[in-house]
Amino acid sequence: MSLSDVTDVGEASERRPILVVDDEQSMREFLTIMLEKEGHEVVTEERGEGAIERIEDGERFRLVITDLKMPGADGQDVLETSKQVDPACQVVIITAHATPESAISALKSGAYDYIQKPFKVDQAKAVVERALEKYDLKSENVYLRRALANKEQFGDIIGQSEPMQEVFNLISQVAPTPSTVLITGESGTGKELVAQAIHQRSEVSEGPFRPISCGAIPESLIESELFGHIKGAFTGAEEDKEGIFQAAQGGTVFLDEIGELNEATQVKLLRVLQERKVKPVGSNEELDVDCRILAATNRDLRQEVEDGHFREDLFFRLNVIPIELPPLRNRRSDIPLLARHFVEEISESMEKQIDGISAEVKRALLNYSFPGNVRELENLMQRAVTLTQDSLIGMDVMPSHLQEDSFDEITQDLDVPEDGLDLEAMVEQLECRLIEKALDQTDGVKKEAAEKLGISFRSLRYRLDKYEIED
Ligand SMILES: Nc1ncnc2c1ncn2[C@@H]1O[C@H](COP(=O)(O)OP(=O)(O)OP(=O)(O)O)[C@@H](O)[C@H]1O
Ligand SMILES: [Mg+2]
Repeated sequence: MSLSDVTDVGEASERRPILVVDDEQSMREFLTIMLEKEGHEVVTEERGEGAIERIEDGERFRLVITDLKMPGADGQDVLETSKQVDPACQVVIITAHATPESAISALKSGAYDYIQKPFKVDQAKAVVERALEKYDLKSENVYLRRALANKEQFGDIIGQSEPMQEVFNLISQVAPTPSTVLITGESGTGKELVAQAIHQRSEVSEGPFRPISCGAIPESLIESELFGHIKGAFTGAEEDKEGIFQAAQGGTVFLDEIGELNEATQVKLLRVLQERKVKPVGSNEELDVDCRILAATNRDLRQEVEDGHFREDLFFRLNVIPIELPPLRNRRSDIPLLARHFVEEISESMEKQIDGISAEVKRALLNYSFPGNVRELENLMQRAVTLTQDSLIGMDVMPSHLQEDSFDEITQDLDVPEDGLDLEAMVEQLECRLIEKALDQTDGVKKEAAEKLGISFRSLRYRLDKYEIED
């Protein structure tokens, strides 16, 4: 197993760049030259928000060197985000003046060290080298541990967003128990992946995992598929047939699209859940059921119960532990991560050398509503990797509905007046309006508004301060 298989970035940890964050251009340039001379790859950010966004978007660094005092998000904010998202990454703080309190508080928050301005080149180099040594030690541990944990617990489920962390927690908690789990969520949100992850982490992981799609099987056959039948039970039943509950003994049955089950079969399934016995069609003999039962649906089963389409008692039997998968549009911070994951996976299988997606494509993806959720994103990336002639995936290989989407709608009435305009003021005005609209739509819930806008919570907070938007 290689590290890059399982960490959330494609590059090996020792090749990650150093991030320099400083609002002073001369300092950024000075540090870049110094570090590049030492053979390091360097990226720079002028603002704390920019750095935070990169880290939250899944970019990984060996070392972050950040100025402490900056307008907006400061070095302390950058430090906190970095430590939270990527504990292996080392952070060195640059303090302008003799401000021992803030330097000490940075150290307490997990900064590796600080450099005080003005400093000598050799002094800074020494701090950087020591910090990198520490990183190398730490990253190996952290990533190996995380790699193993991820492999074991969650298979290939990608996600760093809060709602997905909750899903991971639930999976770890319920997997080792024998409870029936009902997995809900829109189409393409990963319900089957979650069912597999639960099986892999369960006590019956050595046994078979048997999915059955209740919606795809004709009504006349569903009972025989689920419970089996005996020879002669109906015309065409020429042999005894084992049902899925029998076939999955000592393993897991995954009842997919459970909402599609007809009334008569619902009654029979209820008995299986209650008594843990099945009666094959045409037989009087009851067989023991000894398997874990998981179910999934993209319907709102509660509503189906209210409308009289789904038995309430069966619903309660299934819904012992519910896991709800959030739609992709409600966890936009996972979009860049998933996109990268699919691009890597698909380009490798196609033996194409592709570095990733352009900033423009990323923006478009972050703005798109993804009615087909993760599956749709996967398909988009499949198409893009197939079509692209470039090593960077650009808008030219994105379907037209993505190119137009919300941007066009929002901006179609914009025009430049005869006597011109102040572009920067205009853009700020637009940004401000959209933030206010998003807050309106979410009743002032900032976290949701940030998700709607495809930016991080911190970045929204920064903008609220900047434009003095009241709560
Ligand atoms: N978090 C994720 N990380 C990686 N891949 C994912 C994730 N979620 C979904 N996928 C991928 O997206 C596709 C759809 O996932 P899956 O089949 O589990 O969705 P589903 O919720 O069962 O959809 P449906 O209701 O349409 O059956 C699969 O190829 C799956 O591997
Ligand atoms: Mg499915």
